[in-house]
Amino acid sequence: MQTQPETVKKPIIFSGIQPSGTLTLGNYIGALRNFKLLEDEYDCVYCVVDLHTLTVRQDAAQLRRRCLELAALYLAVGLDPQKSLIFCQSHVSAHAELAWILNCYTYMGELSRMTQFKDKSAKHADNINAGLFTYPVLMAADILLYQADLVPVGVDQKQHVEITRDIAQRFNGIYGDVFTIPDVYIGKVGSKVMSLQEPTRKMSKSDPEETYIALLDKPEDIRRKIKRAVTDSDAEIRFDPENKPGVSNLLSIIAALTGESTAAVTANLSGKGYGELKSTATECVIETLSPIQAEYKRIMNDKAYLQSVLDQCAHEASRRANRTLDKVKRKVGCAPHGKA
Ligand code: TRP
Repeated sequence: MQTQPETVKKPIIFSGIQPSGTLTLGNYIGALRNFKLLEDEYDCVYCVVDLHTLTVRQDAAQLRRRCLELAALYLAVGLDPQKSLIFCQSHVSAHAELAWILNCYTYMGELSRMTQFKDKSAKHADNINAGLFTYPVLMAADILLYQADLVPVGVDQKQHVEITRDIAQRFNGIYGDVFTIPDVYIGKVGSKVMSLQEPTRKMSKSDPEETYIALLDKPEDIRRKIKRAVTDSDAEIRFDPENKPGVSNLLSIIAALTGESTAAVTANLSGKGYGELKSTATECVIETLSPIQAEYKRIMNDKAYLQSVLDQCAHEASRRANRTLDKVKRKVGCAPHGKA
């Protein structure tokens, strides 16, 4: 919850993660860890975007559980609910309401150009629902409700932030300055983690188990997966993502987790064998994930606390979101309510 007086205005950050599966080391290095780093400098809103998840058929009990688990992970990586808002999207009805209104200011043509829509409709050919098509509009609503200045996302979501800007600019063009126009936030340390088995592809939870490290993997799983990670046959430790993607991926994981440059990490390991590279990577990953996992366990065992954080943050998020939503409704001509 935001406790700071509202006169001290920090730039606002909004980001969301779907509760649709295991988070990986890639999600941690690329997103969650940065969420924590941004917390002091920005007014951060971090959402568990469960409504987005409904574009693909879900098991209800599993989705409910995953929402709590993801919220617990947000807290376990150290996000402080006194500083950042951490809540479930579906708890704040303004998201769905604004999404409807913005749908009426978004063109079929621009939504048809979204590469993620094209990819996902190819992948889920038996369920190309309207939600999949208007998904970016809900995302625009998420961002615009909080008047976010910056949106930290991976490259795959950049196009959605761009359409958010287009929708906001269009709306502002008609009604005056209603929305802040958000920018994509590119992290200072934005290394991309690649698959352990096919290191030219991004590490992804939708690929087979052995290709990724889950945030909740046990040490023995981490050991096994890194041991089996693909390298190459020339036995030289050198940072060269193009020609040595496997070795370079392990070097960048170590660099990301220790905060050293890839050059420094490479220098430390030069002349050593791949066995040493892998054991260094394994230790770094285990050392990073162990305290997060312990904290995660603690929070999951204290559901009352977790629930109270989510409730309070959703309450505060609703208050903030409704300020924007009320303004939008006034602008478009929805009749006033309850203020006779
Ligand atoms: N679409 C994003 C993803 O799949 C998740 C998301 C939903 C999001 N709303 C957002 C990200 C708003 C940033 C801002 O990764």
